[in-house]
Amino acid sequence: MKNYIKADEWNIIEEGFDPHLNKISESLFSIGNGRMGQRANFEESYSGETLQGNYVAGVYYPDKTRVGWWKNGYPEYFAKVLNATNWIGIHIQIGEEILDLNTCKVTEFKRILNMKEGTLSRSFSAELKSGKILKVEAIRFCSIADDEVGALHYRLSAINFDAAVQLTSFLDGDVKNQDSNYDEKFWDQVSQQQEGNTDYLVLRTKKTEFEVCTVSSTSILNNGAAQELKQVSKEKYLGQTATVNLTQGGHIDLYKIVANLSSENYDKEQLLNEAKLRIDMASAKGFSQLWKEQVEAWAKKWEEGDIIIEGDVAAQQAIRFNIFQLNQTYTGKDARLNIGPKGFTGEKYGGSTYWDTEAYCIPFYLSVAPEEVAKNLLVYRYKHLDKAIENAAKLGFKDGAALYPMVTMNGEECHNEWEITFEEIHRNGAIAFAIFNYIRYTGDESYLAQYGLEVLIGIARFWKQRVNWSADKNKFVMLGVTGPNEYENNINNNWYTNKLAAWCLKYTITAAAKVKEQAPEQYLEIIQKTGLREAQEFQDWTSVAEQMYYPFDEKTGVFLQQDGFLDKEQILVKDLPAAERPLNQKWSWDRILRSCFIKQADVLQGMYFFEEEYDLETLRKNFNFYESRTVHESSLSPCVHSILAAKLNDEEKAYEFYLRTARLDLDDYNNDTEDGLHITSMAGTWMSVVEGFAGMRVRNGQLVFHPFLPKNWNAFSFSIGFRGVQLKVSITADQISIRNNSDQELQVLVFNQAYPVPHGEKVISYKGALA
Ligand code: BGC
Repeated sequence: MKNYIKADEWNIIEEGFDPHLNKISESLFSIGNGRMGQRANFEESYSGETLQGNYVAGVYYPDKTRVGWWKNGYPEYFAKVLNATNWIGIHIQIGEEILDLNTCKVTEFKRILNMKEGTLSRSFSAELKSGKILKVEAIRFCSIADDEVGALHYRLSAINFDAAVQLTSFLDGDVKNQDSNYDEKFWDQVSQQQEGNTDYLVLRTKKTEFEVCTVSSTSILNNGAAQELKQVSKEKYLGQTATVNLTQGGHIDLYKIVANLSSENYDKEQLLNEAKLRIDMASAKGFSQLWKEQVEAWAKKWEEGDIIIEGDVAAQQAIRFNIFQLNQTYTGKDARLNIGPKGFTGEKYGGSTYWDTEAYCIPFYLSVAPEEVAKNLLVYRYKHLDKAIENAAKLGFKDGAALYPMVTMNGEECHNEWEITFEEIHRNGAIAFAIFNYIRYTGDESYLAQYGLEVLIGIARFWKQRVNWSADKNKFVMLGVTGPNEYENNINNNWYTNKLAAWCLKYTITAAAKVKEQAPEQYLEIIQKTGLREAQEFQDWTSVAEQMYYPFDEKTGVFLQQDGFLDKEQILVKDLPAAERPLNQKWSWDRILRSCFIKQADVLQGMYFFEEEYDLETLRKNFNFYESRTVHESSLSPCVHSILAAKLNDEEKAYEFYLRTARLDLDDYNNDTEDGLHITSMAGTWMSVVEGFAGMRVRNGQLVFHPFLPKNWNAFSFSIGFRGVQLKVSITADQISIRNNSDQELQVLVFNQAYPVPHGEKVISYKGALA
């Protein structure tokens, strides 16, 4: 755990330069706009520890699988989001001396991520070996207003010298992924071109043949006077250089405006032309105008989805950081894109899509972004349905059964950890649940006829074929799975997976009935397309759903994680010595698998999804049992505990778990922030506040609240959109007030009592409601 980020409501601030923290800061101060993003690498050369990272959404490489012992059915490759052209590069040299923070004396170092405006800035003084002192002030951003554009301004001042300073602003495409399986470089050069001060570099990925044109336009001014630039080039590298006579007290300004266009969005033949148009447009606006547009676009994002916490600056900073990073990762403009667990902040997890999206991110985007954003995330899976059917067929399933991949870029499974790839089939259930969740929130039932039902049918068919009848138990059982708790593999009857499967089967039948009634023509088309044998298949599905086996312990009244869970030695987390944690770094895998410790509690995940089926007493028993055995070594874990603790009126625990998720990266809680941020768990943080502390749910088309105010806070409020209405919900210790910005009156429930919320502000007192 670290504690070096200064608390501030709108900014992430690092003061002083510590090279040992640099990779962590590179992750924390990452910037992005949904279409591209980058780690907070330095513009100037740096010979210290760094993870270079520039990423372009949707552009990946299928890196050939590397495993010790090949098993039939392994995916051929592990897809990787690529480290792409570095567009921020500025090489600075005075005589023989290079400005490199690893070799000079750095003072007054400050790095700020301004979340309100979406900018990353950095300032420092550097004393070179010769004694020359330079001051640098740099600011850059990935435009969220125009997501193919980025811009930077780098100012260098001479504090105590007169000298000729050589600056080279460059694009460098000769980059690698640190996690490359065979130490390969993934890019080939297609072309390079220089026109005046503008550089065009077009690269193509090997195998996948994506092309990306990165274009950069540089200007350099010496005390305001434009300098003439000279072009430099080599393979996969283009630059603009000038040697400027800098005098003491004077400064050089370098502006770089960049566009990044990919063949995902343009014909390859047109890429260069489009890049020219784009850079001309962006350059005509200039740095200040682009910055202004950035500030305006971010203001809109904050209006749609800010959370304000009064009385706790660290908590305020943390929640904004989570919201900010989510908005930088996914904007919902493109249904081909999704949310990698590390977003654009690192290589881990390959930038691919996991079940995290459906289980954790959907609720966030449903509330803080226009409806089509969450819808696009669902449509993403619809578009991969054929691949999911192929994927299931490869494993021996038939008749249109669909198994979505655990990890994917394009619908194909691309992970090669056996237990995760094949056995974590619960992801299929989360995809179905997300459809239900979307409709519950938006009321958009037409989604079923348009896309949802086909997906549900494929998933239901899979579950039906995946279970088998146990003559011994006289029930359907599901063998050889891994639940979300990855600290136990190849288990039988994972309660969560069985529960989800049965639910999916029933929900698909209900969904089919809805479509049949509401859109009979589309229903017929779906029947034809899927070959659904209604009577037979519905009967089979009902039979599986009704006769599913659920491991349960009569004595404790607890749903069991899996068959045989109580055979394990029952030790509690509180009795684990701190020095032995995290288990995944301190224990052998063998020991982890045999222990009762849980990475993330999947029974509780199931009770969270289907909470209406359980009374508080059942929830409490299960919560107490699993909470004491869960080590939360998945970042996705604490938020569910926080929400359930809030539901159980255990305010202290709810807050304790919230803190674990909210500042997970800012305080480097799990000692792994240097790999990148835990983007998908950030949505869980948001859920802890909105679903946990505010107790917000949607039931029967209405918003429902069961709020409480965490002790350390004076008040909190959040903005959400709900069925076309923009609301601001503010909560104090005894009041919930809801501001309705639209003319449409809304009905809400607060502690089960109905209140109309017309246009304007509605204040509802809730003191005593808990009693
Ligand atoms: C978790 C998975 C999750 C993945 C990506 C793993 O540590 O156990 O549930 O999908 O990280 O976030």
